[in-house]
Amino acid sequence: MKDESKLREEIILRVEEIYKLRKSKEKFIPGQSRVHYSGRIFDEKEMIAMVDSVLDFWLTLGQKGKEFCDTFKEYIGSKNCLVLNSGSSANLVSVSSLCSHNIKNPIKKDEEIITTAMSFPTTVAPIVQNGLIPVFVDIEENTYNIDTSQIENAISDKTRAIIVTHMLGNPVNMDKVIEIAKKYNLYVIEDTCDALDSKYDGKFCGTFGDLSTFSFYPAHHITMGEGGAICTNSTELYRTAVSLRDWGRACYCQTGELNPNGACNHRFDFKFEGLPDGFDHKYVHSNIGYNLKPLDIQCAMGIEQMKKLQSFTERRKHNFNMLFKHFKKYESSFILPKSHEKADAAWFAFPLTIKETANFNKKDFVTYLEKNMIETRSIFVGNILKHPGYKNINCRISGSLKYTDQVLDRAFFIGVYPGIDDEKLQYMMECIDNFMNKY
Ligand SMILES: Cc1ncc(COP(=O)(O)O)c(C=O)c1O
Repeated sequence: MKDESKLREEIILRVEEIYKLRKSKEKFIPGQSRVHYSGRIFDEKEMIAMVDSVLDFWLTLGQKGKEFCDTFKEYIGSKNCLVLNSGSSANLVSVSSLCSHNIKNPIKKDEEIITTAMSFPTTVAPIVQNGLIPVFVDIEENTYNIDTSQIENAISDKTRAIIVTHMLGNPVNMDKVIEIAKKYNLYVIEDTCDALDSKYDGKFCGTFGDLSTFSFYPAHHITMGEGGAICTNSTELYRTAVSLRDWGRACYCQTGELNPNGACNHRFDFKFEGLPDGFDHKYVHSNIGYNLKPLDIQCAMGIEQMKKLQSFTERRKHNFNMLFKHFKKYESSFILPKSHEKADAAWFAFPLTIKETANFNKKDFVTYLEKNMIETRSIFVGNILKHPGYKNINCRISGSLKYTDQVLDRAFFIGVYPGIDDEKLQYMMECIDNFMNKY
């Protein structure tokens, strides 16, 4: 009879064969194969890591989750990281943590959070879900980020936090955000879901605020299928976020912790009013929580993806720069993307706004690209307040949302992800030239 390690070896060899077989069949046919704006980039290593984890059959969050979080927090330079099942869950748990009675100065119902209406739906949703009031300020026309010069005007005596999104990987002016937050004693959440590996002033996005969130959905810089993370330097916020992610438990010991007393060594030492003396702390619920954990198998993939992050970023930057140079000659028709002088963006995509004065409109251009198999996408929600689910939310608008509405009407993005190689990039540029030759 074969031993287990031999059997594992055989399985892993087969997995590698399957990957190579599939890869050998991949072929790009210009005009017939789709040029996606994003997608998972992986090889046999991710497949093997996941299969290996399945064979371990631990299933729920465990050692791979811990290894992923350790790698991730060390890479970006944060004290704590917790992994979740999505970036949306990371946003929900972050806002909920700031509202938890576990922290010293929680945000209370009907207090306000300043953010943008041009963002991802689940950046705004947790504000509403927690009974808070979103206060919307406009974005800048060409960075697509919050217009930091308008934040101070939006502050009222109810303002408690600012949520900024590093839109499409483009770093927000964090000097200004942190300066305002300090002046008015506001919490800051950085939605870094699109901006893993982007830097502002030499520091990774996601290391400036009280909490930062990441997404590992296949469209993002790394993927584990579905997945997300929260980083924070605050132990109080970290423990609260773990509690909210894990059913609202009071204890921050890991699920399946082998030490019978848990990591804290005090499982049976606590006394809670109304609960029997020594009631197992692991099953005391100090928050009204959720269960938003990913599987260990997903984290096994994430560990492999982190090894490739820098090479992914290089390709994203290369593709962005090539497209930027190409569109520069058509600047009379397009508003080109711009970054802050201290920003070093690991671009998620290539955003464009059609100028009002152009001889064609957004529909003409995106229909043409899609017909030629080049995928496009609106820049997330455009203006969230125009969407059916958000039309009647309790909110406040500070100033005009002129550029937010401009995104809704005239902006979109195309891809720069590492799946776009030289051949695809060349094809994209030829198609763009063919269209522009007509106008
Ligand atoms: C800026 C931003 N925030 C949040 C999310 C939500 O992440 P997820 O899809 O993992 O829920 C996304 C997803 O694309 C995003 O782009």
